[in-house]
Amino acid sequence: MKALMAFFRTSVGKKLLMAVTGFLLYGFVVVHLIGNLQIFTGQESLNHYAHFLKSKPLVLWAFRLGLLAIVVLHIKTAIGLSLENKRARGNDPYDNPSNNGSSFASRSMALSGLVILAFIIFHLLHFTGGVIFPDHYAMKDSEGLHDVFGMVVEGFSIWWVSAFYIISMVLLCLHLSHGLSALFQSVGLRNSKYKPLIDKFALVSWVVIFVGNIAIPISILLGFVDLPK
Ligand code: HEM
Repeated sequence: MKALMAFFRTSVGKKLLMAVTGFLLYGFVVVHLIGNLQIFTGQESLNHYAHFLKSKPLVLWAFRLGLLAIVVLHIKTAIGLSLENKRARGNDPYDNPSNNGSSFASRSMALSGLVILAFIIFHLLHFTGGVIFPDHYAMKDSEGLHDVFGMVVEGFSIWWVSAFYIISMVLLCLHLSHGLSALFQSVGLRNSKYKPLIDKFALVSWVVIFVGNIAIPISILLGFVDLPK
């Protein structure tokens, strides 16, 4: 155990930890997107799905705590790696990361990560805690179930809420566009043989995540998805 902890304090160990936690968070985003897309199947089906997810509180809380631990580990390791890189570069004014061939996405990982964190906090206060717009959170459907469909429709009908979501999705996908390739690099899989395949996988992933996520607020703003009249 001690040796393992020592390994995770090395640069290689930290990169591996970033890769594993990043991949798990990517997995969560994909699974969450698949669940959210059920909004297109209607109010009843989405509310039943949400009700089912909440019907096993023990599993739900184990999942939530696991997710929180992964997020904390991902951020803590990112800060550690970034401090390490800064120390390694020293104060050399000519060693400017903007001119060493790195992409815009890779240079803005910290900024995009911070906006995603702000988005998640807003999102939890909005949809999970009901602190923002408690009247949306309190909605019930005709069966008396928590009206997740109604809450999402009412939330995204507010233009600035949708705008904030869409901007956050741009930054999430910018983060993923670098992160997904980088994580395979860290585990040594992005070699000359697999690089084209991995880069294609990263591209398809972030495009699907972007289109899928913004389709929800856009469909609501355009009136394609609405509460039954
Ligand atoms: C348009 C896109 C999205 C919609 C409509 C949406 C909808 C929701 C809803 C309705 C809930 C609350 C479920 C409930 O407690 O009943 C939720 C929870 C959550 N969402 Fe999203 N979400 C979206 C995008 C995202 C993205 C991109 C992320 C992460 C980057 C995310 C992270 C979370 C987290 C961490 C939770 C808490 C999970 C839990 O309560 O256990 N969501 N989302």
